[in-house]
Amino acid sequence: MTSPKKLFIKTYGCQMNVYDSERMAEALGGQGYVETLDAADADMILLNTCHIREKAAEKVYSELGRLKPLKELNPNLKIGVAGCVAQAEGEEIMRRQPAVDLVVGPQSYHRLPQMEARVRAGHTALDTDFPEEDKFEHLKGRPKARRAPAAFLTVQEGCDKFCAFCVVPYTRGAEVSRPASRVLDEARELVERGVREITLLGQNVNAYHGAGPKGDMTLAALIKDLAKVDGLERIRYTTSHPNDMDDALIEAHGEVPELMPYLHLPVQSGSDQILKRMNRSHTAESYLRLLERIRAVRPDIILSGDFIVGFPEETDADFEATMELVREVRYGYAYSFKYSTRPGTPAAERPLVDADVADARLQQLQALITEHQRDIQGSMVGREVSVLVERAGREPGQMLGKSEYLHAVHIDDAKAAIGDIAKVRIVEAKTNSLRAVHL
Ligand code: SAH
Ligand code: SF4
Ligand code: F3S
Repeated sequence: MTSPKKLFIKTYGCQMNVYDSERMAEALGGQGYVETLDAADADMILLNTCHIREKAAEKVYSELGRLKPLKELNPNLKIGVAGCVAQAEGEEIMRRQPAVDLVVGPQSYHRLPQMEARVRAGHTALDTDFPEEDKFEHLKGRPKARRAPAAFLTVQEGCDKFCAFCVVPYTRGAEVSRPASRVLDEARELVERGVREITLLGQNVNAYHGAGPKGDMTLAALIKDLAKVDGLERIRYTTSHPNDMDDALIEAHGEVPELMPYLHLPVQSGSDQILKRMNRSHTAESYLRLLERIRAVRPDIILSGDFIVGFPEETDADFEATMELVREVRYGYAYSFKYSTRPGTPAAERPLVDADVADARLQQLQALITEHQRDIQGSMVGREVSVLVERAGREPGQMLGKSEYLHAVHIDDAKAAIGDIAKVRIVEAKTNSLRAVHL
C-alpha cells in the first residue's frame, strides 16, 4: 500500500475561510490526502488567503517566500493559493511567485481534485471562475469522523452591498443562499458527529434567503428550524448587516432559547457623513435604535462590532462621532482597523487621512473598546453561565470552553467532558478569559 499524501493548509481571514479549509481538506481527502500540521512534511501546501486589507494580502507573499525552499527538499511538493487573494490576483500570483503550482478562487473548490491531478502531472492549474454549479453540492462525501463540539456552517456567500472600501463583493461574488434543506441536512450530520453548537456563516448572513418548502426562507425561519434539530443546543450567526436585521430576526433573539445572546453587528463609523460615503445605507441613529430593539427582547445580549478609522476625508468631528457611538453602545468585543486602500474599490480614488492621525485615532478607539471589554468581563464575576466544554485547559483538571456570551471560560476541577454544557459560576475575570467553578 502506498502511504497517504500529506496536506498542510494554512488559513487566513474570516471564519468562512475556516469552513472552506475544512471542505478543501475533505475534497482532497478523496484524493488520498491526510492533513499534517508540519509544512515541511507536506506533499501539498495550500494557503487559504484573505484580501480584506493590504497587510493581509502581503502576508501571503512573504509566507510563499518562506515556503519556497521546501520545494528543493521535497521535489514532490506542490504549493497552492486559495481564497480571496487567489480570486483578486489570479495569475499575478504565479508571476510574482513561480513556486506556486495552483491558484483556486473561493467558488471553485469542488474542482480541486481535478486541479490536483493536473499539478501532479507537472502542469500549473488556475481556476477563478464563478461557476454555475453549486460548489457545496459538489463538496459532498465528507468523512464521518467525530468533530469538535462547536462548528461553522456556511449558509450564504457573497455580498451585494458594495461598501466603498470593501473587496468582498469582488472576491466572493454576488449574494447566494444555500437551500434550507441542505443546511438542515448538514446540521444534522454535524450533530451526529458530536457537534452541539453551530455558527451559521455568511458575508452577509442575515440577508439569507435560501429556498425552503414554501418559498424563500429568512434567516429567522432557518434558525427556528435548526433549533428543532435534536442535540443541537446552541446557534449563532455571523456576520450581519444592520439593514438586514428584520423584525423576525430581532424577535428570534427573545424567542429561541438556542439562539445565543451574542451578536456581531458591524457599524464601521459613528459619523453619518462617513457612513454615507462608505455606502453603508444606515445612519448612526438608525443603528442605535436597532440595538435598542434587540436589547429590549434580550437585555443581556453582548454586542460586538467592526470599525474602520481613517476612512478618506474623515475629520476629527467624524472620529469623535465614532467614539460617541462606542460610548453609547459599550461593546463586549469590537474589532477596529485602520482604513486600507483596496485597488478597484470606489474609496480608493479618494484623498487619504494623514497616516499618523489615523494611527492616533485607532489607538484612542482601541483603548476605549478595551476599557468597555474589561468592564463587561469584570461584570461577569459572580454570575452563573453555561459553558460548552471544548477542550482540556493547561492546568490539571481544568477544562476550557465558551459561555453563551462567547467568553472563553476556564473551569477549575472540571467535572465535565468535552461536548458537555456545564453550569458554572464565574469567580475571576482575566484579560482574555474568565475563570469559573462548578455550581
Ligand atoms: N461582511 C461583513 C464583514 C466584512 S470584512 C460586514 O459587512 O461587516 C470584516 C471587516 O473588515 C469589516 O467589517 C471592516 O470593518 C473591515 N474592512 C473591510 N474592508 C476594509 C478596508 N479596506 N480597510 C480596513 N478595514 C476594512
Ligand atoms: Fe464588505 Fe460591506 Fe459587503 Fe460587509 S456588507 S462584505 S463590509 S461590502
Ligand atoms: Fe478576507 Fe475574503 Fe473573508 S477577503 S475576510 S477571506 S471573505
